[in-house]
Amino acid sequence: MDKILVIGSYNVGLTVIGDTIPKEGQTILGDTFDKGPGGKGSNQAITIARLGGNVVFLARIGKDSFGKEALELFSNEHIDTEHVRIDPDAHTGAGIIFVDKNGHNAIGVAPGANYKLSVKDLEESVALFGQCRYLLIQLETPLPVVFHAVKKAKQANMKVVLNPAPAQKLEPSIYPLLDFITPNETEAEILTGIAIKDQKDAFKAGKQLVSMGVKNVIVTLGADGCVLVSNSIEKAFLPPKVKAVDTTGAGDAFNGGFVFALAQNRDVEEAIGFASKVAAYSVLTVGVVPGLPTMKDLTRHFGKI
Ligand code: RIB
Repeated sequence: MDKILVIGSYNVGLTVIGDTIPKEGQTILGDTFDKGPGGKGSNQAITIARLGGNVVFLARIGKDSFGKEALELFSNEHIDTEHVRIDPDAHTGAGIIFVDKNGHNAIGVAPGANYKLSVKDLEESVALFGQCRYLLIQLETPLPVVFHAVKKAKQANMKVVLNPAPAQKLEPSIYPLLDFITPNETEAEILTGIAIKDQKDAFKAGKQLVSMGVKNVIVTLGADGCVLVSNSIEKAFLPPKVKAVDTTGAGDAFNGGFVFALAQNRDVEEAIGFASKVAAYSVLTVGVVPGLPTMKDLTRHFGKI
C-alpha cells in the first residue's frame, strides 16, 4: 500500500457533553466529561493507522505530561514517532470541546507547540516527501508551513489532500497545487463566500474552488453526506444513517478514511463511500480516538466494505 504523510496537530481534548452548547456569558451543567487525545492531524493519522494503512506523522508536541501521553498513544497505534518533535518551551496543544444532545460540537483550541512547527522541521524531514505517495494536511499548524509542505509534496510528485480546517482564507496560489480539498459547510463558506444551506450551494462552492484551480473538491455536509466536484464530475453521496452520540472528529475520520482508501488504489467515488462509513462509525462513541474503527469494526457494522 502507498505510504501516507500526515502533517498536523496534536491536541489533548477536554469534552463536556450536555443538553446544549453554552452561549457567551453562560455556564451550563453537562452530563459527561471526557479527556482524550485529539488534534486534526493526529486524529487523521490514527484513523489511517487503525485501518491498517502505512502512515508517518510529522508534528510538534510539548515537553509535558500531555505530550508524554501523545507519544505513548502514537506508539500504541503503531505510528512512527521519529518525526514528532518535542518542544521544550511550548505546551502541548489543547482543545476545549462542548457537545450537545444531538452530538453537535463547538471547539476552542490553544495550539501551543502545534504553532511552533516550522519550515525548518519540514526541511529536516525532507526525505519523507520522496518516500510517501500522499500528503494529508490541515490548517491547525502555521500557514507558511502548510504552503511549504504542499509545494514540497508537488515537487516530489505526491498527491495532496488539504482539509482546510479550521477555516482560514488562503493565498490563491495554493489552489492549483491541490489534488483534493475537503471543506465542511462553514469552511467552504469562508473559502468561497458562498453560504452553504443545502446541496445546491455545496455544488456551487465546489465549482468555484475548481475554477480557482483545485482538481477535486469534496464539500462535506455532516449527516447529509457530501458532494464531489471536478472538471468531469458533479455527484452527491449519502452516508449510512446512524445515531450520532459525538460528532467531534467525524471530519478527521472522513479525511483519514478517504486517503487510506485512495492509497489502497480505490477510485475517488469508492474512496468517498468508504470514508463516509469510517466517519459514520466514528460518531457512535464519545471522544474521537475511541470511536475510530478498524477494518474488522467496519465489516462487522456495515457488512462488505
Ligand atoms: O476535528 C476535531 C479536532 O479538532 C479535535 O480533536 C480538537 O482537538 C480540534 O483539533
